[in-house]
Amino acid sequence: MADKVKELISKCLQARDMAYCPYSSFPVGAALLTTDGAIITGCNVENASYGLTVCAERTAVQRAVAEGHTHFTAIAVTCDVKDSFVGPCGACRQVLMEFGSEWTVYLTKPDGSYKESSLTELLPSAFSPAHLAKN
Ligand code: THU
Repeated sequence: MADKVKELISKCLQARDMAYCPYSSFPVGAALLTTDGAIITGCNVENASYGLTVCAERTAVQRAVAEGHTHFTAIAVTCDVKDSFVGPCGACRQVLMEFGSEWTVYLTKPDGSYKESSLTELLPSAFSPAHLAKN
């Protein structure tokens, strides 16, 4: 497992290098670990119509689902901020919550050091698919 985490961290750092961010110059990389051990990466993809920008985490999720993966155990996220561990934006937290609350989020610095968190910690009292079934 430790090796898999290392690989996940390394893949999210590589994904950050693929970011298309000519407007913000703020590259972000993400790497999802599926329950069957696959790693799917994503980067932020910006647009001249700024609001159409897609975050790295959501790029990774869309890509994973399109490739047949909907069960995840972890996501690693990184950007160029060196002095603090940066978490996914609120919209991305909600998108991750769609696929379960009990997975691990590795907030990763550019040097590869990381802080482990859970999705529930990052998005407490979340709205989730389970609530739709309660009506
Ligand atoms: N961004 C992400 O890719 N993920 C986040 O969780 C926060 C923000 C991107 C969007 C935009 O391209 C750039 O970072 C600056 O906001």
